[in-house]
Amino acid sequence: MTERPPGRIVIVTGGAVGIGRATTTAFADLGDLVYVLDIDPEAGSEVAGLNEHATFISCDVTSPAEVTDALRLIGEESDRIDVLVNNAGGFRSPRTLEDTSFEEWHQILDLNLTSVFLTTQAALPLLRRSESGRIINLGSLAGQLNTWRTAPPYVAAKAGVHGLTRLMASELAEDGITVNALAPSAVLTERIESLRDKAELEATAATIPLGRYQSPEEVAAWVLFLASSEAGFMTGQTVSVNGGRFMT
Ligand SMILES: NC(=O)c1ccc[n+]([C@@H]2O[C@H](COP(=O)([O-])OP(=O)(O)OC[C@H]3O[C@@H](n4cnc5c(N)ncnc54)[C@H](O)[C@@H]3O)[C@@H](O)[C@H]2O)c1
Repeated sequence: MTERPPGRIVIVTGGAVGIGRATTTAFADLGDLVYVLDIDPEAGSEVAGLNEHATFISCDVTSPAEVTDALRLIGEESDRIDVLVNNAGGFRSPRTLEDTSFEEWHQILDLNLTSVFLTTQAALPLLRRSESGRIINLGSLAGQLNTWRTAPPYVAAKAGVHGLTRLMASELAEDGITVNALAPSAVLTERIESLRDKAELEATAATIPLGRYQSPEEVAAWVLFLASSEAGFMTGQTVSVNGGRFMT
């Protein structure tokens, strides 16, 4: 049985739907207090309404001002943060190098990479007050090897998340804060279902040795493990949870 301190204080960015929603629910079901930082007020309020331990804060994690405001609000209510899950990310349409606009390049980099920097920097004073601070970043198989139907800024951002995870882990080790990343490959969220038709979904599943998509709940279980005391001696790692699609 995984040991954990009672009543942890957790932030999940992009915690309103998909992997973030499963993560919010998993922590809240354990009795942890979860702050959901998300741009979707409808889904954010819904997930908070379903979980008595979850609180929605409207926040665009690509905006320095909104991230600072959100962390100030949390600091007024809570004396520390124990777990920060930098989950907000993704992309909406597959792109080639040639058809990626300058605006899209920046928008996707900001969402998937700059947000990790901004939220972590703003959360640090409260994370340092935890007895066992944990940061978990959502990377991707797309940042580890060449994948099918993706987007240049997404690939660059996720490779950046893996690198930044190592830097953050080195810098924050002296504070007792561990930093790890997860690199899923194909997780069946509504966003992924909207990106691909049935044939494409099946083609992707066929590239995975275990022959299927991962569920958001399976990713959330890994987040819980990385936040647990049992994972306390692990830092700076990217954990490949990809059904065998990429083996190291
Ligand atoms: N689904 C997959 O197959 C897969 C695979 C590898 C990695 N990932 C990564 O896992 C993470 C979650 O993916 P998902 O599929 O659950 O995504 P999703 O699109 O289902 O959910 C993303 C959440 O982030 C929120 N969000 C979007 N922009 C935001 C912003 N600017 N500020 C705050 N919140 C914002 C959305 O409202 C939503 O709640 C992402 O970082 C993604 O890159 C997903």
